Amino acid sequence: MPDLALTTLTIRRPDDWHLHLRDGAMLQAVLPETTRHFGRAIIMPNLVPPVVTGAQAADYRARIMAAMPAGADFKPLMTLYLTETTDPDDVREAHRSGVATAVKLYPAGATTNSASGVRDFEKVRAVLETMAEIGMPLCVHGEVTDRDIDIFDREAVFIDRVLKPLRKKVPDLKVVMEHVTTKDAVDYVRDSHKNLAATITTHHLIINRNHILAGGIKPHFYCLPVAKRETHRVALVQAAISGDKRFFLGTDSAPHTDPAKLQPCGCAGIFTAPNTMSCLAEVFDVAGKLKKLEAFTSLNGPGFYGLEPNADTITLTKGDPVSYPAQITTADGPVTVFDPGFDLHWHVDA
Ligand code: NCD
Ligand code: ZN
Repeated sequence: MPDLALTTLTIRRPDDWHLHLRDGAMLQAVLPETTRHFGRAIIMPNLVPPVVTGAQAADYRARIMAAMPAGADFKPLMTLYLTETTDPDDVREAHRSGVATAVKLYPAGATTNSASGVRDFEKVRAVLETMAEIGMPLCVHGEVTDRDIDIFDREAVFIDRVLKPLRKKVPDLKVVMEHVTTKDAVDYVRDSHKNLAATITTHHLIINRNHILAGGIKPHFYCLPVAKRETHRVALVQAAISGDKRFFLGTDSAPHTDPAKLQPCGCAGIFTAPNTMSCLAEVFDVAGKLKKLEAFTSLNGPGFYGLEPNADTITLTKGDPVSYPAQITTADGPVTVFDPGFDLHWHVDA
């Protein structure tokens, strides 16, 4: 039940621990949608070609800084895309110099632009051991890619086949299981003692697979990992509203133009940057847990990464439904904004 007495909420400025900003015209168009509310974000490296080396991450960060809207106070936290030929010394230096905050593991072929990802985990062992030594987190796209594994089972199978053995081999490695979509993943993270956390997206707290498939196919609800059945969505909401330090926001806001999404083989990715905070406030309010919103969006993430929460705050105010544009325009074409399917009553005063 919503707490009807609560109509304004001031929280530390939120961070986004998993964000796709892209490059070029798309970067220019989507960056303000994040900097309006967020203080920092972990920037995904799945450009074409991917951001693999420290030098490439420094260049990409410079392009992000050049695209920054006037007056924005936003810090991009860069990641390196792990390949089987990643050099441990380059990773060490990128971390030491502050160029890279984390390394991203995509199993080869798991998702958009992941062809250069890892097939043989033994080949990246030296990198993982270096990261464990220097305390640099590994962000994991937790899905196996085998053709014979059902797409709805790929996350649960990944935990058993990849994550458990990997964490046993390199127990001191800090791992973020990203965009978890299953009760299996929530339980696995909750049962772990240390060095494991999970991000949860905005959309996976709101949609289940019926939203994608029932009554006509909805390409704008298609992302990877794909949304699962309702029991899993409920488990994600329970984890998010629990305040448990191991769960925090990673929107996985992943803009694609409408022509790229609306075609026979459409791209995976949901663009949630503009309305994420209003969506989350609604979810937490309906659950009667608004007071846990700050932990999820602003405290637990920095805690796991060993950073301070942002010093400043944002204020959310409840009132008449707030409207967000259905699309934003970019020089590459329109990008549709996530439609939660219900009214949003929480305005964000950044
Ligand atoms: C992401 C993208 O478009 O880059 N897509 C998605 O469905 N989430 C890639 C990813 O994070 O899997
Ligand atoms: Zn992503």
